[in-house]
Amino acid sequence: MECRALGSLLLFPLHMLYLVLKAAVRMVRPPRPRELSGETVLITGGGRGIGRHLAHEFARQRAKKVILWGRTEKCLKETCEEVKMMGTECHYFICDVGNREEVYRQAKAVREKVGDVTILVNNAAVVHGKSLMDSDDDALLKSQHVNTLGQFWTTKAFLPRMLELQNGHIVCLNSVLALSAIPGAIDYCTSKSSSFAFMESLTLGLLDCPGVHATTVLPFHTSTEMFQGMKVRFPNLFPSLKPEMVARKTVESVKLNQAILLLPWTMHLLVILKSILPTAALEEIHRFSGSYTCMNTFKGRT
Ligand SMILES: NC(=O)c1ccc[n+]([C@@H]2O[C@H](COP(=O)([O-])OP(=O)(O)OC[C@H]3O[C@@H](n4cnc5c(N)ncnc54)[C@H](OP(=O)(O)O)[C@@H]3O)[C@@H](O)[C@H]2O)c1
Repeated sequence: MECRALGSLLLFPLHMLYLVLKAAVRMVRPPRPRELSGETVLITGGGRGIGRHLAHEFARQRAKKVILWGRTEKCLKETCEEVKMMGTECHYFICDVGNREEVYRQAKAVREKVGDVTILVNNAAVVHGKSLMDSDDDALLKSQHVNTLGQFWTTKAFLPRMLELQNGHIVCLNSVLALSAIPGAIDYCTSKSSSFAFMESLTLGLLDCPGVHATTVLPFHTSTEMFQGMKVRFPNLFPSLKPEMVARKTVESVKLNQAILLLPWTMHLLVILKSILPTAALEEIHRFSGSYTCMNTFKGRT
């Protein structure tokens, strides 16, 4: 083996150790968060649910402009008014992110009417919430079109300009169900896993692109309309998250250019257990926690 290659091979574990220690120090003493005052933020599904709280939070953090996308004008208009009342310029556009032509058309309209988007938040999603055999084919397709492919189109529409400006951030509101799927929401879990891989791939691809970052947020069950009616077996042990908390933590992660955010942090345990426990033990955790049956109580949100 060539001398230089051998040298780098020997240094590699030391470099890894340095990076692990650096990450540990950052957990205790986080770096200075960046300001958002010059940023133009576009939030898909920004009219209601977590998206609405994200709009408020970006306004609270003094983002320059907020743009909301969604299908329902009434809630987009309401949220837009709320953001304006907070002193931030706000615009809304009707856009179904599952419709590629509409995404490209509205992205062009955004650039002409409002300007360059520097933070894109891919938040819009639907859930059919049934098993494979109980699912209508079109409903299965819709979840993939909105939750996964929609992010391809929005990112393709806005990322090139971010790369030119060397200033940009792609944010994805994903779910812990991307890492640990449950029965009864096969459309949703599949779309979220696939969107997780999309973000992982995108994040690595952006490593050599100065000024452009990516953040993937994986929250546990959050009290919005999305899973309304769903019964959790131990609500005191696994309480639902509040959408305003999810929004606040998401914006904090953007300000720190953090790549991954699991909410709550205890979800890291799930990742560890999944990689070390035998399948039978994991199945027992699902049975015990009630995740096998929780979707039976829920009607879906499309
Ligand atoms: N709630 C939870 O338990 C939970 C947990 C983990 C992760 N998440 C994720 O967090 C994100 C927000 O969820 P949420 O709880 O706020 O859900 P929600 O209350 O149902 O809101 C979904 C948002 O997406 C928009 N939307 C749906 N389909 C769309 C489409 N085709 N084009 C454009 N916008 C569309 C909706 O607006 P319109 O209907 O007006 O289009 C709405 O603003 C989602 O990605 C979800 O997967 C949620």
